[in-house]
Amino acid sequence: MHKLSGKVAIVTGASKGIGAGIAERLAADGAAVIVNYAHSQADADAVVQRIAAAGGKAFAVKADIAKPAEIQPLIDAAVSQFGRLDILVNNAGVYKIDSLDTLTAESFDEHFNINVRGLLLVTQAAARVLAAGGAVVNISSGVAKSPYPSVHVYCATKGAVDVLTRSLAMELGPRNIRVVGIAPGFVATEGNAASAAAMADYLVGKTPLGRVGQPRDIAATVAYAVSDDAAWVTGATIDVAGGLVF
Ligand SMILES: NC(=O)c1ccc[n+]([C@@H]2O[C@H](COP(=O)([O-])OP(=O)(O)OC[C@H]3O[C@@H](n4cnc5c(N)ncnc54)[C@H](OP(=O)(O)O)[C@@H]3O)[C@@H](O)[C@H]2O)c1
Repeated sequence: MHKLSGKVAIVTGASKGIGAGIAERLAADGAAVIVNYAHSQADADAVVQRIAAAGGKAFAVKADIAKPAEIQPLIDAAVSQFGRLDILVNNAGVYKIDSLDTLTAESFDEHFNINVRGLLLVTQAAARVLAAGGAVVNISSGVAKSPYPSVHVYCATKGAVDVLTRSLAMELGPRNIRVVGIAPGFVATEGNAASAAAMADYLVGKTPLGRVGQPRDIAATVAYAVSDDAAWVTGATIDVAGGLVF
């Protein structure tokens, strides 16, 4: 019997990077997983295939969480495919360089519409069907606590995510639904592949454990956060960063 047998999870932004790693780990722990994506159907299908090949259950669902009309069908897909919903992992996010010189209203709206509004509206829709004993995990970032001036807007979105982790935990606690934040350090993913070459030496140099993180490092803490081992953990954001302070 696996730890998450009988549970159903949605992972937003699970076609790549950290989200794909989380989806594969939750499936390996026994959950049936909805693999959400916005554009990359082939990547999402590949994640579903890897899960199935390993003996797990998964289903890909296209939904752009920046578009409110696409959110309810994502939640409905979990219930129609797998009959219930126990776990929501709010992972989908964007990060772009935005100094005072370059930031625009459009880039502000893009970041906040995905990283904050999308996260909150997905949680609102999920909360209507989440089972007692369920869990919501919000993927934050170390930059919420140690922000960078070259990414003002991104850092601000993750600060907002940490506040929502606390306020949502207060609202959902009486229903025995926990809300846990996870703040990764520097993790090698498709999304930061271009900047990784330039940033890796600098960030690894600031990381006490001396290496770049991998999606499986974050996925392992998500697996803990949604399990009964974390039954007394809510409203907190856990740093998973090899000790890196950005
Ligand atoms: N990588 C790091 O070092 C790092 C550090 C700290 C925090 N984080 C956080 O970790 C999360 C994942 O980062 P990552 O590096 O794994 O990103 P990534 O490699 O760029 O992958 C992003 C994922 O999010 C999906 N996505 C983007 N916009 C979406 C939307 N509007 N609706 C639904 N899905 C959407 C993408 O799907 P499509 O391809 O289909 O668009 C993709 O699956 C983000 O919240 C990020 O802020 C990352």
